[in-house]
Amino acid sequence: MELFKGAYEGAVTATSYAEILLAKAIKEYGADCPVKYPDTAYRLPVITALSGEEVNTIGDLAPILNRVRTTNIREELNFENAKLNGEATLYAAEVIEALRYLKGAKPDKYPYCGFISDPILRKFGVPLVDQTIPGVAVIVGKGKDSKSTAKLVKDLQSKGIMIFLANEVIEQCIEENVKIGADFITFPVGNFTQVIHAVNFAFRAGLAFGGIPAGQRQRAIEYQAKRVLAFVIQLGPNDIVKFAAEFGAIFMGFPIVTDQPVAEEIPDWYQSEPDYEKIGKLGLEMRGIKIKIVDIPVPITIGPAFEGETIRKKDAHVEFGGGRSTSFELVRMCEADEVEDGKIEVIGPEIDEMPEGSVFPLGIMIDVYGRKMQEDFEGVLERRIHYFVNYGEGLWHVAQRNMMWVRIGKNAKELGFKIKDIGEILIAKFKSDYPAIIDRVQVTLVTDKDIIEEKIKLAMAKYSARDARLKGLTDEAVETWYTCTLCQSFAPNHVCIVTPEHVGLCGAVSWLDAKASNEITPTGPNQPVLKGECIDPVKGQWQNLNDFFYTGSNRTIEKVNFYTMMEDPMTSCGCFEAIMAILPLCNGVMVTTREHTGDTPCGMTFSGLAGTCGGGVQTPGFMGLGRRYLCSAKFIPADGGLGRVVWMPKELKEFLGQDLIDAAVAAGLGADFVDKIADETVGTDEEAILPFLEEKQHPALAMDPMM
Ligand code: SF4
Ligand code: NI
Ligand code: NI
Repeated sequence: MELFKGAYEGAVTATSYAEILLAKAIKEYGADCPVKYPDTAYRLPVITALSGEEVNTIGDLAPILNRVRTTNIREELNFENAKLNGEATLYAAEVIEALRYLKGAKPDKYPYCGFISDPILRKFGVPLVDQTIPGVAVIVGKGKDSKSTAKLVKDLQSKGIMIFLANEVIEQCIEENVKIGADFITFPVGNFTQVIHAVNFAFRAGLAFGGIPAGQRQRAIEYQAKRVLAFVIQLGPNDIVKFAAEFGAIFMGFPIVTDQPVAEEIPDWYQSEPDYEKIGKLGLEMRGIKIKIVDIPVPITIGPAFEGETIRKKDAHVEFGGGRSTSFELVRMCEADEVEDGKIEVIGPEIDEMPEGSVFPLGIMIDVYGRKMQEDFEGVLERRIHYFVNYGEGLWHVAQRNMMWVRIGKNAKELGFKIKDIGEILIAKFKSDYPAIIDRVQVTLVTDKDIIEEKIKLAMAKYSARDARLKGLTDEAVETWYTCTLCQSFAPNHVCIVTPEHVGLCGAVSWLDAKASNEITPTGPNQPVLKGECIDPVKGQWQNLNDFFYTGSNRTIEKVNFYTMMEDPMTSCGCFEAIMAILPLCNGVMVTTREHTGDTPCGMTFSGLAGTCGGGVQTPGFMGLGRRYLCSAKFIPADGGLGRVVWMPKELKEFLGQDLIDAAVAAGLGADFVDKIADETVGTDEEAILPFLEEKQHPALAMDPMM
C-alpha cells in the first residue's frame, strides 16, 4: 500500500540523511562537541522520552541512530511497521534539528520559532487542563491558496486550538495577516524537519507534567495517546519523508487528515478531506475533541488565541482608563427583579462619537442574578472580565477594578465593533461558562465623563467591603479547604490543596475560585475537604487532608505538610508560576519564575529546577508556587516564613511591589526587608550573595538551620 511504502522509504531516507549530517558535524566539531536545545531540562526530548539515553555530545548520537536503524526500520509493509518507521523518523528529525543548535547557534529567524522552551510549555499548563485550549493542531505543508489556509487557521484559533505551523502555511498566514507566534498560541516552528518541535513539545508534557521517567517508551506513548489531544493537518502534495513523519505522529496517537486524495484511507488514522471548510472539523472529530460553541453576535473573532495580543497606542482607535481617564469594572449580585437578562445599555458616547486616538472613561457594570449566586463570587466573576474582553481580536485589557485599562484597535473599529459589543461578549461568556450560578445578567457600559464619577463610588464601596472580607479570610477562619485536581488530566497523581491563604501553585485558583467552581460543578475538580483532626499544627498536617491526598494521588502520597517545604511538602504538577529551592549556605530559600530565564544561586535556571520536581511527587527542599503566595502570612511558616527568602529575580520584586513590602511589615520584618533580598544584580551563586546578605543583616542568617 502506498502509505506504508512511503513510510518505509521515507524512514530510510530520513535516517540516512541524519547520519550524513551527523558524520559531517562530528568531522567538523569533534565527537565530544556538546549538543542540547536551549532552555530545557529534557535534553533532546524525543530521545529522553522514548529511550532515555543521556545525550551530552554529538558522539552520543551515533549509536542511537544505529540502533534505531536496525530495530525500527522494517521493510514488510503493514500498519505496525509503518508506525515503527515513523518512530525512527522522529529520532532522525530530532537529531537533524539538534545539530542546528550546536555551539549555541540560534538557527531560527523570524517568523520561525524553532525549539519551544520549557517555560513556554509550562505556561500553557493551566489553559490546557481547564480546556480553554481544547486540543492541538499541527498544520503542515502548503494550502491550496493563502485565503483558504488563513481561514482554516483562524477558525481553529477561534475555537481555542493550540496550533503548530510548518512549511509554507506560515508564509500563507503572514500574507493574510493571520496573527501568529507564541502570544497567539500559534507556533510557526519552521520548515520541514522543524515540525519535530511540535513533537518534542508534546513529549515534554509527559516528562514535565506526567512525571513519566525518561525512557519509559510505552508509558510515554500511552500518555500522548490519552492526554495530548493533537492531530495533524497535511496540506498539499506529500512525499515519502512526509509520509514517514506522518506515521511518526500516528505512532504517538495523533491522526492525520489531508486535503490530498488518499488511495486507501485508514479509518480514524489517515483520512482525506479536500474541502477546507470541513478539514479542521474532521481533524477535531478524529481526535475526539469536543468544542463548546458559543455564538457571540460581534464583528470580531473571539478566542483565547487573542488573549496575548497587545495593542499599541498607535494602533488603538480609542483607549479607556490606565490612569488617563476614570475607569472601573464591577460585578454585582442583584435580586431577580433588578436584572433584565441580556440587556446592554451604553450610557454616554458610542464608538462612532469617539475620534481616532481619543481617550474616554469606561465603567463596566455587570449585574448578575442567580439562585446559587453568592456575594463571595462577585470578585471571582469580576476577574473573568479581563480574559473575556482580551479574547476579542483587536481588544486589549489589563489590570482590574479601578485600575483597568482597555484599548480598542483600529482594526476592530473598522470591522464595525461597538462599545455595546463589549456587553455582548461578556453576557455570552458569563452565561456559557457559569450556567450554574448565573441565571440572568445585564451589562451597563458607562462612557459619560460625569456619570462615571457617580457610578465609580458604588464600585469603590464594593471593593473596600470585599477587601475587608478577604482580610478576615484566614486558614483558621474556615473549616473547609478545597482540593484542586484540574491538573490531573496532565499530572495524574497531582493534587493541590487551596486554602484562603495559599493560592494554587498555578496562581489561577484561589480558595474563593475553588468554592465558586465547586458550586458550578459539584462533582468537578474542586472538592471541599473538612480539615478535621489536626495532627501537627506547626507543620500543618491534618488527618482528613492526608486521607484525601492518599486517594487523590492514586495512593502515592500518604501525608502532606502545608506549612513547610522541608518535610512531606505539597506536590507540584508542572504549571507553577514560580519555584523555590533551599540554599543551604545562606540558610534560606530562593524563588525564581517562569519569566526569569537566567541563572539562579542554586545553580540551575527555572527550567532546570522545574525539571527536578513536578509530576505530582514530593520533593523536600523544592516547591512550586503561585507568585502571590509569597505575600501570604502562611508562606512556609514552619520554615521561618518570608524572612527565609534570600534571593528572587528583580522581575518578581517589581511584580509584587507594595504587596511584598506590606507582607514584610506584617511579618515584623520591616519595610526595608525587600532590599535585603538579593537578586541577579547582586549575584547568581551562593558565594556571591552571602556577603550581601551579611552586610544587610538578612534575618535568615540568624534563624535556625534549615537542614
Ligand atoms: Fe492545577 Fe493546582 Fe492550579 Fe488546580 S490549583 S489548576 S491543580 S496548579
Ligand atoms: Ni485581545
Ligand atoms: Ni498544573
